[in-house]
Amino acid sequence: MTERKLLVTSALPYANGSIHIGHLVEYVQTDVWVRFQKMIGNRCHYVCASDTHGTPIMINAKKQGVTPEELVERFRAEHQEDFKNFHIDFDYYGSTNSESNRVLSESFYEAAKRKGGIAIRDVAQLYSEVDGMFLPDRFVKGTCPTCKEVDQYGDSCEKCGATYNPQDLISPKSVVSGDTPILKESVHHFFTLSKFESVIKAWLDAGVVREEVRKKLGEWFEEGLKDWDISRDDPYFGFKIPGTDNKYFYVWLDAPVGYISSTLDWSKDATLTDEIWKGDDWEVHHFIGKDILYFHCLFWPAMLAAAEYAMPTKVNIHGFLTVNGEKMSKSRGTFIMAKTYLEHVDPEFLRYYYISKLSSHIEDIDLNLEDFVFKVNSDVLGKFINIGSRLASIVYKKCDSTLTRSDTEGVALLDELLAEAENVKVLYEALEYSKCMKLIMGLADKVNKYIDATTPWALVKEDKEAAASVCTTGLNAFRIIATYLSPVLPRITHDIAIFLSLESLKWTDLGTHLNEHVIQKYAHLAKRLELEDVQKVIQV
Ligand code: 2FM
Ligand code: ZN
Repeated sequence: MTERKLLVTSALPYANGSIHIGHLVEYVQTDVWVRFQKMIGNRCHYVCASDTHGTPIMINAKKQGVTPEELVERFRAEHQEDFKNFHIDFDYYGSTNSESNRVLSESFYEAAKRKGGIAIRDVAQLYSEVDGMFLPDRFVKGTCPTCKEVDQYGDSCEKCGATYNPQDLISPKSVVSGDTPILKESVHHFFTLSKFESVIKAWLDAGVVREEVRKKLGEWFEEGLKDWDISRDDPYFGFKIPGTDNKYFYVWLDAPVGYISSTLDWSKDATLTDEIWKGDDWEVHHFIGKDILYFHCLFWPAMLAAAEYAMPTKVNIHGFLTVNGEKMSKSRGTFIMAKTYLEHVDPEFLRYYYISKLSSHIEDIDLNLEDFVFKVNSDVLGKFINIGSRLASIVYKKCDSTLTRSDTEGVALLDELLAEAENVKVLYEALEYSKCMKLIMGLADKVNKYIDATTPWALVKEDKEAAASVCTTGLNAFRIIATYLSPVLPRITHDIAIFLSLESLKWTDLGTHLNEHVIQKYAHLAKRLELEDVQKVIQV
């Protein structure tokens, strides 16, 4: 097989709040894909960064009495710690507030300008004289012009679902100061998306997103692509637009550029970065949530086309997380921070649960806490780890810690497990994780049945050699299943490698059975999950 070259990204989280378990769906989904690609021998790099610019960050920093730079660095460090604890293994975690990102963002703007893709015109927007700033949609509240519900944001009404311009709100007020804003004009820079319509369409038609997503995007084209406002007025935390005194790039202009600048900051190699982002040899795979489809499937490809970069190979889109069937909610205590979870429950259990639910589709997934406990105990402990724990002490105590050889029945069982390697691979590749876990757990069931039928703990009393052979088959099966699961359960499977006296579990070693092989004393791999532990993560 020829090695594929892959650059993989997850959405860059705002450095303006803590990581919660909803965020983690995407990072786990991506991390598993990256680990799988590396395991099967592809060259694969995973980059991410803090998304650092914009009004909310600027205002939050002011509230906390720190500079925006300090605030984003604080969250960047916190996020990296959370990700590490969930075994999200980035090759590089950068920041959009970097010099390389400023230079690259400017170059995207200049390229668009050269292509006639930037339009400049006056726009009237709500401005608060008390705050001294134009108010973004989410910083204005007032009465809905359609249903007259009070206290609605400037872009849409939560009650009737109407969308409107903030200046249409009745009695608008600044969220920051309560001031009544006025309408004021200022010059704005627009990216003329319609100029790149045919390129984006051709790209979308080439199968870069799932069909259901392509259909949805089709509606936007039917409505006609509107110009995209890429400028914001001072005060704003971001990069100045070249040639202006007081205009900044809107955060969504420089955020995706952060994918490229992080590649550059990681590799410190401009030639390689160009090969990855401009050439044909590399594949670029984005992982995002359905809420930011528009940015990644319209704005971003338009920017890339304008600046003559290659188009991303795939945009993989997932749905949201619900907890016990409902939107995560602070009042129900289901808005669970990564840190809170880690205080009470093993991170790999959440990884497994998410993966056991995810498919390549855009549907939301639900974390049902009782089902979580049931599934983890039944699959990870009951089916998978159970194989090793049942056999380890027999080999350790009664067989000199040494594996022997499988008999004919054992070899047939191992062959059956190995025959599924290609299917496991296909399912990981296609992000059909739920199906993949079902397949692997089905194999674990078969192995447990084999152990139930051969009863090595009884057999060892009469025929030590036969029992050793059964344990050899069982522990080789354990090794194969652990290899299949290693992208999902990196810590547990690493510990299994140690137990089997192996440096690591390798895909290329799947068929290399451990015969006449000394293993280590078995150390406990994971603790059974109790509902009361899980309930502790719910904070009301
Ligand atoms: O929606 C968000 O959380 C953004 N911070 C994602 C940015 S992704 C990329 F474009 F930078
Ligand atoms: Zn309304």
